[in-house]
Formats: sequence, structure tokens, C-alpha cells
Amino acid sequence: MSRDVVLSVHDLTKTYTGKKPFVAVDHISFSMHEGEILGLLGPNGAGKTTTIQMLLSTLKPTSGTITYFGKDFYTHRSETLQHVAFASTYIQLPHRLTILENLNVYGMLYNLSPAERKHRIQKFLTFFGVWDQRNKQMSDLSAGQKTRVMLAKAFLAHPRIALLDEPTASLDPDIAHEVRTFVLEQRREYNVSMLFTSHNMDEVTEVCDRVMFLQHGKIVADDTPDNLARSISTATVQLMVGDGMKRTIEYAKKHKLAHTIENRVMNISLDEQHIAELLSGLAKVGVEYTQISINKPSLETYFLYLAKQGRVVKKENT
Ligand SMILES: Nc1ncnc2c1ncn2[C@@H]1O[C@H](COP(=O)(O)OP(=O)(O)O)[C@@H](O)[C@H]1O
Ligand SMILES: [Mg+2]
Repeated sequence: MSRDVVLSVHDLTKTYTGKKPFVAVDHISFSMHEGEILGLLGPNGAGKTTTIQMLLSTLKPTSGTITYFGKDFYTHRSETLQHVAFASTYIQLPHRLTILENLNVYGMLYNLSPAERKHRIQKFLTFFGVWDQRNKQMSDLSAGQKTRVMLAKAFLAHPRIALLDEPTASLDPDIAHEVRTFVLEQRREYNVSMLFTSHNMDEVTEVCDRVMFLQHGKIVADDTPDNLARSISTATVQLMVGDGMKRTIEYAKKHKLAHTIENRVMNISLDEQHIAELLSGLAKVGVEYTQISINKPSLETYFLYLAKQGRVVKKENT
């Protein structure tokens, strides 16, 4: 993969003015490389959509700079936007036009030849299973169908960068899976770079090379999904103890392991790398268990951890 930087954001800030000015995006800086799929995660209100809107210039930053392909966005706005596509579950295409009319207009705006327009529109609509609906007005489509048309539109004109704001939010799980397949295929074929916001941690783990967590408008983490998950190295071992509950508790206390007991099920939290040691230690003192499950830390664990920290910070401030 080429590592050219295609987008670089420096100290970007958005303060919504009004009676009570509100800092929605707070001095964020990051870069995105060619062919990279970068996840932007964060709870509701974290500033994800505000960030994407500034990257599209539909919202004016309060301060900071945005550089695409090495050029300042504000002085090279229209030429840059030729290469930057956008899709969002929350934004509608003109609803009186049919799917075909919408995509044709868009293809013309982006100078696709008639033959290429025809070819790509059919290819994408077929992929998303909405080719048969092509002469229907947008207003007659389900939320999921609208989202798929929006994605077809975003990738129609060979974008170099796609900004996708919760592209799978209104989709059934099997169609959300299709979208992920599509996104990965676009990257493989055309080396498209993408900024992808989502609430779904498993999805982000599957699709994104790197993830940034936004919280109260600030980037609080920026790493690969694996590294983030691993940075919380606590795993949970759940044992259904057949014989030796007392010895299990003694063992946990002796080794200062956090644990809870419910009926005959013991949950032990410990560093992932100490799991093997725990199991052989219990075997040595003759503990027998009838069931075992090990929950490894995931991106979700990390997200919950951050969210919890956020709440603590908030409480202290108010
Ligand atoms: N036009 C606006 N005026 C004032 N506040 C806004 C406006 N749009 C969004 N906000 C606030 O900015 C914060 C970030 O919103 P948003 O970027 O939509 O977050 P996200 O997409 O992460 O859910 C929220 O607290 C939201 O209420
Ligand atoms: Mg949003």
C-alpha cells in the first residue's frame, strides 16, 4: 500500500455560536493515507458529523487547516471536491427523482462518459440489489434501499477519498455486511481512502485499518483496532466450578485477582497473558470445572472503558 498522505487536518476546531457557544470539535489533528480506511468512533454528540461536514466544506471551521493531496482545501475547494465523495444515512437524495435519474445527474456532474455512466450505474445497483427498482422515485424506497443508492452514488465517479457518515446505520445486518464487502472491494480495486464513522465496534474492527476515538470533540485515541483492544489487556475467565469453589476463591484472593461469584459461576478478570498460569494453578490445587469461557478484550471493551472515563470526567466537572 502506498503511504502518501491524502488528507491532513491540523488543529481543526468548530465552535457552534449561539446563546451558549459550544465547542463541538476541539483542536483535532490527524492524517489519512492513500488506501487507508480510517474509523471515526465516538458516542452520540462526540463531533463525528461536525468533523465530516467541515471536511466537505458544508460547515466552516472556526479555526484550523484542512489539506487534501498536499493542497489547502479552502483555496482549492472545487478541484478537491471532484475527488472527494460523501455518503450518509441521514442525508437524502432528491426524492422526486428516480434512482436512475439521480445517479445519471450525478455521473454527468462528475463528467463520466455516457457509456461509463451506464456501465457503473448498472454494476453498482446490481451489486446492491436495487437494479430492479431503478425507475422508482427515491421517496418510494425503504431506508435501507436509499442508503444503498447513496453509497452507489458516492463511489460512482471514482473518488480518491470517501467520507462515510454512518453508512450502515439503517441497514439490516446482512446488508450492512454487503456494504462492508463493497467498501473493502473499492479499496482493493481503486485504493480509495475512507473515513468511516460507525457505532458498531465489530464492524469497525473488521473494516478499519486505524481507529480514532472522539470524545467531547477531542481525539482521545488513535491506533489500530487490535492495539486499542490490547491496550486494555484485561480478559474475563468464566468458570463453572464443579468441585473446589472454596479453593478457587482462595486462589483468586491469594493472587489478588478481581472476581465475582454467582451460583457456581466464577468470573475472574485478569491480564490476558496470565490466563494460562491461572488455569494450571487451579489444576494444581485440584479445582475441577465443568465449563469455561474466555472473553478477550475487544474494541468494544476499550470503547466502554473510554466512555466510562468520560462520564467520570464529566461528573468531576459539574
Ligand atoms: N447546528 C448546531 N448548532 C449547535 N450545536 C450543534 C449543531 N450541530 C451539532 N451540534 C452539537 O455538536 C455536538 C456534536 O454533534 P455531531 O457532530 O452531530 O456529533 P456526532 O456525529 O458524533 O453524534 C453535539 O453536542 C450537538 O448537539
Ligand atoms: Mg453524527
